[in-house]
Amino acid sequence: MPETEGPTRLWGGRFAGGPADALARLSVSVHFDWRLAPYDIAASRAHARVLAGAGLLDNDELGQMLAALDDLESACAAGEFRPTVEDEDVHTALERGLLERLGTLGGKLRAGRSRNDQVATDLRMYLRDHARGVAAAVVELADALLEQAGRHVDTPAPGLTHVQHAQPVSFGHWLLAHVQPLLRDLDRLRDWDARAAISPLGSGALAGSSLPLDPAAVAKELGFQAPAQNSMDAVSDRDFVAEFLFITSLIGVHLSRLGEEVVLWTSQEFGWVILDDAFATGSSIMPQKKNADIAELARGKAGRLIGGLVAVLTMLKGLPLTYDRDMQEDKEPAFDAIDTLLLLLPALAGMISTMTVRVDRLAAAAPVGFSLATEVADWLVRKHVPFRDAHEITGRLVALCAARECELEDVSDEDLKTVSEHLDPSVREVLSVRSALAGRTTPGSTGPGPVADQLQTASDKLDSWREWSIEPVVPR
Ligand code: ARG
Repeated sequence: MPETEGPTRLWGGRFAGGPADALARLSVSVHFDWRLAPYDIAASRAHARVLAGAGLLDNDELGQMLAALDDLESACAAGEFRPTVEDEDVHTALERGLLERLGTLGGKLRAGRSRNDQVATDLRMYLRDHARGVAAAVVELADALLEQAGRHVDTPAPGLTHVQHAQPVSFGHWLLAHVQPLLRDLDRLRDWDARAAISPLGSGALAGSSLPLDPAAVAKELGFQAPAQNSMDAVSDRDFVAEFLFITSLIGVHLSRLGEEVVLWTSQEFGWVILDDAFATGSSIMPQKKNADIAELARGKAGRLIGGLVAVLTMLKGLPLTYDRDMQEDKEPAFDAIDTLLLLLPALAGMISTMTVRVDRLAAAAPVGFSLATEVADWLVRKHVPFRDAHEITGRLVALCAARECELEDVSDEDLKTVSEHLDPSVREVLSVRSALAGRTTPGSTGPGPVADQLQTASDKLDSWREWSIEPVVPR
């Protein structure tokens, strides 16, 4: 049975009765869009000024309106004003709050705007603001990785491809390899922000307004670069949500790769890293257990981040212009992505900065699995043996060692000569992890010099991020 007309709906004049319960329950979004309230109020303030500029509110009315909006804002922040079950969405709830404060004057603010341009504006503001919070948390994790990397510039480790020992690397270099994707993510957030800085307010439901509004003034007041070029696009466009979710998904993917490595590093089999007790968990039945749950959650949460992106892209696909109610589905994935990253990133940062790296185990593992074989091949190349032959010769040497269960440097002078006329005892000079690392001096490689340079560049880049990550979107 349809309910009697609720007190707070923003529509109803042309309807014979109120909405069915089932419709109301499906339609309601206030339980998740309430977090847009401060942004909606900021946009209302800007809109009120524009209405006054257009002569649609007199000075006294504008003063009352702004005071009521301020009061409503404090009441929301203090939890004194809350949405009720009757409020369909954040816009409905806030209009009720305004009517409670101003009576009929409160009803004037809706002139020239629609929830369609309001919600698009609010969500842009919310995401732009929170992108900075996400960036700050990414910086915190990158800082933790940089700090650990700084301690391990000279710590040798077995570099892997296919999870097989490949070539020795500096463990600091390895940790910095997880910083680079985060630096790109930070760049992506800033690039995204520039595109998201377009204000839809003034587009109304879809066609703009016949009232003399000032979209440029509103855009400026709300921290946007410019008003939208096309009112129909402005209320239809959710590229900024999809793109934001791509970035958060990619951050999730990066964190999952770091997480997976920490899971491996802390396993009994690797034993390269010991987690601080505060950042590890135990088992309810096995008293000896110490688990890397943060790292596993980093791996696992990538799934929900990617899921949010897929949900929004799928919702948008084939959607006719302009606003369709499908678009209400844009908010939960976006909010969830932010919440997820703001939980995950500080935990990961704490885990990384407090973990103990087992330098002894890493150094012992670095040459295992004939990981210095490439050094032999390069040594031959320096003796002008074509690399193709050098590869073959070194392969034969490795096969000999594998059969004899000995290391490359254990092969006798005689046997070296048997493997190839090009091999002589001086090849043993390159058969140390230290020399393999020291020999890598080209930019970006794993030698101590280039790693120190990389550390410096990464740290400078991060510094340039600190300010952006706390810069407020809406100037107060
Ligand atoms: N709550 C809606 C959303 O989040 C905005 C309201 C637009 N509703 C409408 N019937 N035009 O998308």
